[in-house]
Amino acid sequence: MSRLAYVNGRFLRHAEAGVSIEDRGYQLGDGIYEVWAVFDGKLADPKGHFARLERSLGELQIDMPMSRAALTVALRETVRRNKVRYGIVYLQVTRGVARRDHAFPTVPTAPTVVITARSGDSAAAQAKAAKGVSVITLPDNRWGRCDIKTINLLPNVLAKQAAREEGAFEAWLVDADGLVTEGASSNAWIVDADGVLRTRDIGANILRGVTRLTLIEVAKSAGYTIDERAFTVAEAKAAREAFLTGAGALVMPIVRIDDAPVANGHPGQVASALRAAYIQRAKQTSI
Ligand code: PDD
Repeated sequence: MSRLAYVNGRFLRHAEAGVSIEDRGYQLGDGIYEVWAVFDGKLADPKGHFARLERSLGELQIDMPMSRAALTVALRETVRRNKVRYGIVYLQVTRGVARRDHAFPTVPTAPTVVITARSGDSAAAQAKAAKGVSVITLPDNRWGRCDIKTINLLPNVLAKQAAREEGAFEAWLVDADGLVTEGASSNAWIVDADGVLRTRDIGANILRGVTRLTLIEVAKSAGYTIDERAFTVAEAKAAREAFLTGAGALVMPIVRIDDAPVANGHPGQVASALRAAYIQRAKQTSI
């Protein structure tokens, strides 16, 4: 089966799909994206992702290219045509095509909309979660608007590459005060010595993870105490458990931070239980 990509209202063969070389996303990184997890061919956490999409676009003064309802149809159709049951669907919206100039185009420009979908291997993901992953820590050298989900990801790209080169799954980024902000493509969590779930507050310069938000609700209803409060790398290394959240990895236990094992070096019970609870909830609420 050949993969198909949605590009400005048309489905094209994925391998041949493209946009103009004068697309502002390509030339200037002038655009945003969203990623939904897909369960049983449906979009997980729809409300949270649409709300963040609208917010990101608003911050860049790009209009929503179509209504939520129309976008949902396009996203689901991309998932369906690519026969994705479990995986992700990716949406990118840029300011569109214009003669290269840093400032916004002065003539009205239609946003460029691209949607792609990719199958994942749920058994492999589950096996990875059963084993746990490792993270390295690096200075957070990103800009001051990490709350916007922009396609400008160079610091994240370099951090992730550094992690790969060290055999790690993720890089945790650490601010000037020694506090973990988030991962290169995920939010960071620990279960501290008191059994409290800790994750950075959204007042900090981080992406407001949708998985993070849903997991806060899931964990609260399961009776856990949540404290949206920063933690240091030393606190994370001494934590009972550590894990990360994101639309790709869902909830993923961390068993090593830099050179130190987390607790006994095996995935913790809380992270494993929350992964299962998150997946159950996401399946129930996906559209
Ligand atoms: N990344 N922080 C960063 C920097 C991210 O890029 C992501 C998601 C998250 C988690 O957000 P959410 O739970 O809404 O997926 C946090 C996506 C998956 C990506 O770039 O592919």
